[in-house]
Formats: sequence, C-alpha cells, structure tokens
Amino acid sequence: MSTILRRLPPDAATGLRTGARHSLAELYRPADLVVLGLGVMIGAGIFSIAGQQAATMAGPGVILSFMIAGIACLLACLCYAELSSTMPTSGSAYTFTYVIFGEVWAWIIGWALILELELAAAVVARAWAIITVRAITGFGVRLPYQNVVEDVFVLLILVALTGTVALNARVGLRALWVMVAAKLLAIGAVIVVGARYVKVANFGDFYAEPKPLTTPAATVLDLVMGQSHAFGWFGVFAAASAIAFAYIGFDVLATAAEETVNASRAVPKGMIRSLVIATIIYLAVALVMVGMIPYTSISRDSPLSSAFRGVGVDWMAHVIDIGAVLGLTTVILVLIVGQTRVLFSIARDGLIPRRLATISRRYHSPTRVTLLIGVVAILLAEFVPVLTLQQLVVIGTLFAFMFVAAGVIVMRRRMPHLDRGFSVPLSPLLPALSLLATLWLLVNLQVLTWVWFALWMAFGLVVYLVYGRRHSLLAAPETLANNHARGRHRR
Ligand code: ALA
Repeated sequence: MSTILRRLPPDAATGLRTGARHSLAELYRPADLVVLGLGVMIGAGIFSIAGQQAATMAGPGVILSFMIAGIACLLACLCYAELSSTMPTSGSAYTFTYVIFGEVWAWIIGWALILELELAAAVVARAWAIITVRAITGFGVRLPYQNVVEDVFVLLILVALTGTVALNARVGLRALWVMVAAKLLAIGAVIVVGARYVKVANFGDFYAEPKPLTTPAATVLDLVMGQSHAFGWFGVFAAASAIAFAYIGFDVLATAAEETVNASRAVPKGMIRSLVIATIIYLAVALVMVGMIPYTSISRDSPLSSAFRGVGVDWMAHVIDIGAVLGLTTVILVLIVGQTRVLFSIARDGLIPRRLATISRRYHSPTRVTLLIGVVAILLAEFVPVLTLQQLVVIGTLFAFMFVAAGVIVMRRRMPHLDRGFSVPLSPLLPALSLLATLWLLVNLQVLTWVWFALWMAFGLVVYLVYGRRHSLLAAPETLANNHARGRHRR
C-alpha cells in the first residue's frame, strides 16, 4: 500500500484508550456529555448569526434554514455516533478516517478540524468581547476606547479559559454546569417572554421575496445558477449553511470519548440528546425572534435584543447579554478542550511533533498543546478580522461530516465484525442522505470561503508531505507495536 494511504489498525486506534501512549483520566458521565454538548453548541450561532441571517438573507424563512441545517446535522450526528461507538478515541473524525481511508485523508480531516476548532474559538472569543462590552455599557457604565477594551477582553477570556483547560478540565467541568444552566435560563426567558409578543403576521409565509444583490455571485450555487439574490429560496439555503455554525459542537463531543465512562454507549447518546435539545431550542428562539417584529426591523448587531426593544421590553436586553456572555464562555471552553484532544491525537500518531502529546504529570492534562492552542487563538482573534471568517469554520466542519458519513458505509462493508455500541438505522440510506445533505450545505457556502479553504488545505498537504509522512508512527511500525505491548502490560 502506498505510504500515504497506510491505515491505522482499528485495535491500535481503540487500544490507545488503555495503552501506554495515553493517560487521560476518565472524567465524563452521561449527563456531563449533554451539558458539554449544550455548552459548546448554544452560542454565537443563536445569539447573533440567526438574527443576522434573518435580517439579510432569509427573512422569516430563517426558521426553514434552521430546519434544513438541523436535519443535515442530525444525519451527520447519527454517523458520528456510530463511528465513535466503534472507535471511542479523542481524535474523532481524524482517527475514524485514519482507520477507514488511510493516513493522508486522516491528515486532511485533522487539518480541517484544526481550522474548525481553532478558528471557531477565535470567532466566538471576539463575539464574546463585543457582547461583554455591550452588556457593561448597557448597564450605564461608560467605557472609553471601546475598541481597546474589546481587544483586552479577547485576551482576558482566552488566557483565562486556556489556563483552565491547561490546569485540569475538572475545574472547568464544575464551572461548565453552572454556566450552561444560567444560559439555558436566559434562553428560556427569551422564549417564554418573547412568545407573548409574537404576531402571526410577522411570519408571512416563512418566505421573503428575492432581492438582487449588487455584489457578484455569493455562493457556489449562485455561481452555478448564474444568479445573485438575497432572500427567496436561495436566501433560505444560503442562510442554512451559515446557520450550521450554531449546530457545531455535537461533533466535538466525539473528542471526549477517551475521557468518558462507558464511552461506546455514552458518547452516541450524549451527542444525539444534546443535538435534539439544541435543535428544539433554536427553532423556538428563531420563531419568537421573527414573530415579534418584522424581519426588516431586526438589527444585525444585536438581533435578539432589537426584537425585544421593538416590542418595548427593554430589560430583556440585559438578560440576553448576560446569557450570551455566559453562553459564549462555555462555547470557547469546550472548543479549546476539543481542539486539545484532536491535536493530542495527531501528535500521538507522530504526524506533528510527538512532544505535543505529552500529558503533564502534575495537571493530568495535555498542557503543552493547550498552551499552543491558546496562543494561536489569541493571535487570530486579535489580529485577523475573524468575524468575517465564520463560514470557514463551517466548511471545515462539513468537510469532516462527509468523511464520517462515507466512513460508516465503508466500515460496515470492510469491518462488519467490529463492536458497535450504536448503529445508524437504515444504513446505507441514512449515511448516503447525510452525504448529500452535507454537500448541499457546502455548495451554499460563499465562493470566497471555498477559495480560502482550498488554500488552507493545500498548505496542510505540504506540511504532511514535508513532516508527517516521515515522522508518522506507522513509518516505524515497531514503535506502534512496542506501545501496544506496554499498554497491555500496564493493564
Ligand atoms: N455552535 C457554537 C456557536 O454557535 C460554535 O457559538
């Protein structure tokens, strides 16, 4: 087999849980996983992006956009659930791909996951800083030099959360439960209070007439169809792809598998439960938001608050801002945890320097790799206009979804004997539908996003050819065998 297509044996992937190469402690119980899932999903997507898309792309059709993205993500979630029940390892889609399709594809997916998680942490940290400044000024405190204050807040939140993860995720877990509960209360208030002001007329037919865009074709589909419109059906589809950002996170749960008690059953359940709960919450919030005021009056900067101001319930703006500050904090926290686990897995396989896979004896956590992730996130959030790059996060995620869906189909044929704690029903139909739905979201992303993504992936390929291919543990199979033997001995 060509070196770049060499595959990781499945027992090597799963054996890592008990092997000498790995010493992450089992930490999460089933309820923690649901909290982790809600912690990472409910964030900028629902607090900001949903309203922006309603105002600029889909109008009241944003409800349909949420449904489309939700169905695509649910299909992908079932596929993740099956593979993570078979290979409960912290590498998630990266490791699944290594076992099923081979090393170069695994690297490509790992590289896409790095883009997803690192950039998402930076995007949400910037959004967090903006909302925090707004929350403080909303209480009447005057802040001079708001831009500088925002930059300082970006730094503070990323340093604080990176430190929390580096020192030990257990500290973060307690705080996570409290913050997720608080953000759910705020979201609950949005739904309950907002529902009283909903006017059916504002829903229209869940459709807004198309309006020509002055800019050239925005999405790949626009390019193919030779059109360039906001709103109408194309607007609904484009908004669905942007809104996929809100659902990002159930996939991150797969990276917690090595630290989960009874992972092969608990992780699939945790993923599916948290995604279903998040979907219901999103639909309820979106219905309330577009039902309260005409979509043309929704502000792009503070969409949810503008809906409440529009009906004269100004105090809800404070509740929303506080909920968002707490809500986005947990998103960043779990994204950093997920990113550490993916990089840790790649380093453990030797595709990036293996020193990065060291677990600190003192803190029982991959401290080195965590600090690296924190520093990169700070640089990105401080010096790159990350809020314009949200779709790059989405494309990285969707790319992994495709490999996971295809992986289920291939794995069923090639390795039917492996234990599956969860099986996708109606396979191969549902995985094939997942593939199609993901492709549909992909072609509704902006052309510019595809160009940036292609450049990032090309750069990644060069890194692999120069470093990973030669330093891979599979390039020296005796190292892999030794690690295994040591792992078994330890048990
Ligand atoms: N789903 C997360 C958010 O919406 C990334 O902030």
